[in-house]
Amino acid sequence: MAHTAPSMTSLPSGYRAVVVGASGGLGRAFVELLEADAHCGGVTGLGRNSVPSLDVTDEPSIAAAAAVLKASGPVDLLVDATGVLHDNSMLPEKTLDSVRPTALVWSFANNAIGPLLLAKHFHSALPRRGKSVFATLSARVGSIADNRLGGWYAYRMSKAALNMALRTAAVEIARKRPDAVCLALHPGTVATPLSAPFGDDGAKTRPEEAARRLLAVIDGCDASRTGSFLAYDGTEIPW
Ligand SMILES: NC(=O)c1ccc[n+]([C@@H]2O[C@H](COP(=O)([O-])OP(=O)(O)OC[C@H]3O[C@@H](n4cnc5c(N)ncnc54)[C@H](OP(=O)(O)O)[C@@H]3O)[C@@H](O)[C@H]2O)c1
Repeated sequence: MAHTAPSMTSLPSGYRAVVVGASGGLGRAFVELLEADAHCGGVTGLGRNSVPSLDVTDEPSIAAAAAVLKASGPVDLLVDATGVLHDNSMLPEKTLDSVRPTALVWSFANNAIGPLLLAKHFHSALPRRGKSVFATLSARVGSIADNRLGGWYAYRMSKAALNMALRTAAVEIARKRPDAVCLALHPGTVATPLSAPFGDDGAKTRPEEAARRLLAVIDGCDASRTGSFLAYDGTEIPW
């Protein structure tokens, strides 16, 4: 690959990485960059079409995939790049009148509950000592303090819930894994299928660049930053 991959030197030499949502725009870029890192010992991409397959709305599939991965040793870095914003039957709501419970439930299942279930089943895969990372892709629009535009009820609410889930899991994981770093990350506006209906792709960040920046942020964080909500440039986003 032509990407300049950051070397994740804050992780142990030969570190093992897992990317969930590996078929997505950002997920694929994470896999390619990690594969290009000579310091990385191996990358496993998971998703609905991988073997083992993992659907974040299907807890048994998460448990089964986690068991397969854990059987061959600890996971030093898990990046959750799953998420939904629209599908064939729904677009983000512009007004209160377009709020639909089914869209809210779908968004929460995928964007908030799914990543929390990943933490549930994968936290014990993180090594007891030494830096390890559980990073989930959130979105700045999940910030309550930063919300001035309104709209996008289901996506905003589900990402705010994801942020709370991540923060709560970070507190718990720190008790047994004091060197672990749990992060909610905002990638910027990135040219992927998720953002495709909104704005000009040419004005968006390329997935490889967004993933490269986020890996640099991850590499630069130690346990003092666990439970943070960070943008692609490493700055904290208000909850
Ligand atoms: N792109 C942006 O501008 C932007 C901005 C802010 C935040 N984000 C966040 O970044 C993350 C990645 O987004 P992206 O832009 O790369 O979107 P994307 O290209 O649409 O990729 C989304 C990924 O999520 C997976 N996924 C969806 N539902 C799933 C499920 N139930 N189980 C397992 N995997 C599932 C998809 O798998 P399939 O291939 O099986 O559908 C795909 O791999 C999301 O959390 C998104 O909210 C993106």
